[in-house]
Amino acid sequence: MTIPDVERWPELATRLAEARAAGATFPLPVVERIVGAHAVVDGRELLTFCTNDYLGLGQHPEVRRAAAETAERYGWSTAAARGLTGNSPWHRDLEAALADFLGVEDAACFTGGYLGNLGLIPTLAGPGSTIAVDEGCHASMLDACRLSGAAWTATPHGDVAAMERALAGRGAAAGAGEEGEAGGKGGSDLPSPRPSPAAAGEGDGAGGAAGAQGSAGNPPPRTSPAATGEGDRAGATRAAAGADRWLITDGGFAGGGDRGPLREAAAAARRTGARLIVDDAHGFGVYGALGRGMAEHAGLQAEVDVRVGTLSKAGGSVGGFVAGAHTLIETLRQRSKPYLFTAGLPPAVCAAGLAALRVLAREPERRRRLWEITRAAHDRLRALGFDLGATSGPLTVLWFGDADRARAAAAQLDAHAIHAFPMLPPFVPAGKARIRLALTLHHTPADLERLYAALAGCVR
Ligand SMILES: Cc1ncc(COP(=O)(O)O)c(C=O)c1O
Repeated sequence: MTIPDVERWPELATRLAEARAAGATFPLPVVERIVGAHAVVDGRELLTFCTNDYLGLGQHPEVRRAAAETAERYGWSTAAARGLTGNSPWHRDLEAALADFLGVEDAACFTGGYLGNLGLIPTLAGPGSTIAVDEGCHASMLDACRLSGAAWTATPHGDVAAMERALAGRGAAAGAGEEGEAGGKGGSDLPSPRPSPAAAGEGDGAGGAAGAQGSAGNPPPRTSPAATGEGDRAGATRAAAGADRWLITDGGFAGGGDRGPLREAAAAARRTGARLIVDDAHGFGVYGALGRGMAEHAGLQAEVDVRVGTLSKAGGSVGGFVAGAHTLIETLRQRSKPYLFTAGLPPAVCAAGLAALRVLAREPERRRRLWEITRAAHDRLRALGFDLGATSGPLTVLWFGDADRARAAAAQLDAHAIHAFPMLPPFVPAGKARIRLALTLHHTPADLERLYAALAGCVR
């Protein structure tokens, strides 16, 4: 006899029902097909503004062919963790090609951008380290800080002075609480999956508490040399680093579409002796004359110590990366648990990433065209009266503030068969409701006219 779910997991059933009632669940539709900017979503054909395939590489024939041919030749699976099986030639080539594309010494690829952050921060920082991280950084970065055991402060969004205070040991309590959004229009695009106050936009205070209280409650790093996954070589390496400091921001923020304050962050890092880490998931491929991202765009290639990114957006594929100096990357290869103790990307996915990098380097006109589309759309939306806040790239945010207005606009878009991403309370704080639209190379002038028409009457 099967035990009904609700009897087996009564506490989860209650929480899920509460989350549903509060509108705090994700719809998770099934996207059956994407052709250009058109997707079949739950059986309906929609014009989509929900993919981050900014440059259209996810559908590029060369990228698709590279994946298919490599899967035929090599098989699909990586079969085991990289610490056991090592890398395929495609992993090695992808890492070299990423370093080359970004103009840095070396790069390590991870199975996803999320894992890249989890693989980077706890390897570099731990008890004894101090981290200041913008509260608008991606959930994976905040999780990585939490996992590291360092004293970390999630500082108000865009407030570099608060980062500097936190690093200097003053004002650590200035952290607005991890995952909160008190600081402005940015913010993590994912709420806490736990039924914590963060889900109500209040932050759960753990980041602030960690910052205020130091890492006293954290266990010391273990030093077992075991390579089985039970030991903690990362902790052993990092412990040698001493009282290190880290300043972390995004190149472009997913919650507000705004740019990271890289120039100010680099200056603050210099003053405090911190190393600067930039998560450039949304800048990679899009910003800079060569598409190297926000560091190139800001003329700060040399000042950014560590570049984190993903191929899942402008790279048209999947797979995270960390890029920088060779010693840093080699340390990750030797010590980062999400590098060593999980299966690597399938070789076919690496081949797709390699093909995407080739197209990115060969066809800068893709980037130019994306920026033309982006600028024209921003101008038009602003002229129509929409508040785009500090939106500055293809990830475009329409601020409504009031949740009902944003909900009404989302419903209107849906009625016009347009797929957009509403960000509503409790996922964002009250008064900060918005709709996110990702512009891509696939969007034609006719698609955009359809968007403007659908939004008529929704101006705040
Ligand atoms: C800023 C940022 N960092 C990291 C990630 C995670 O990347 P991935 O989807 O490759 O895991 C994302 C994805 O949304 C992101 O926006």
